Amino acid sequence: MSNVVPLCGPAVRSSDAWDSNEPPSTHPHPHPSTDHRTQERDLVPTLLHLDTSPRIGSTTRRGTAEFAASWRAANPEGTHVYRDLAARPVAHVDAEQIAVMHRLESGEVRDLDEARNAAVTPEEKASWALTWDLVEEVRAADTLVLGLPMHNFSLPATFKA
Ligand SMILES: Cc1cc2nc3c(=O)[nH]c(=O)nc-3n(C[C@H](O)[C@H](O)[C@H](O)COP(=O)(O)O)c2cc1C
Repeated sequence: MSNVVPLCGPAVRSSDAWDSNEPPSTHPHPHPSTDHRTQERDLVPTLLHLDTSPRIGSTTRRGTAEFAASWRAANPEGTHVYRDLAARPVAHVDAEQIAVMHRLESGEVRDLDEARNAAVTPEEKASWALTWDLVEEVRAADTLVLGLPMHNFSLPATFKA
C-alpha cells in the first residue's frame, strides 16, 4: 500500500474506501521534509493530489479519488501526497511575493537556488518560504491529479492562490 501524505494536517495512510469528501484514516506517518521528498523522487514515484471543491458530494473529488486509487494500485510503493485546498487554503498572493517574483523576472533569473534565496526583507522571506514549499511540492511530483470545478468561469480561487 502506498503512503498518503496530506499537507497542512495530520498525515494519513491510503485507503481504498476513501470517501470523496474525507481523507483516508489517520496514521502517525511523519510529514517528510521537502528535501526528503526530493531525495525520494528518484526512488519511488510520487503523486501530488489536489482537491479544491468545497461541495458535499463533489464530482471532481470523486474523480481525483478514483484516479488516486488506480495510481496507488499501480504504484504500491509510491508516495501519495494529498492537499485539500478547500479544507486548508494556502495564503493568497501578496505584495511581498509579487516583489520577489518581479525581481526574478526582471533579472531573468533561471537558477533555482538563486530563486529560492531571492527574498530580502523579513516580510518577503516569510511569504517566499510558503511559496517555495508549494513550488517544491510540485517539483517533487511525478504525477499531478487536480480536482478543479469551474467557479465563476474560472478556476477556484483556492487553486489560483
Ligand atoms: C460557486 C460556484 C460557481 C460556479 N461557476 C460555474 C461557471 O462559471 N460555469 C459553469 O459551467 N459551472 C459553474 N459552476 C458549476 C460547477 O462547475 C459544477 O457543478 C462542477 O461539477 C462542480 O464540481 P464539484 O462537484 O467538484 O464541486 C459553479 C459552481 C459553484 C458552486
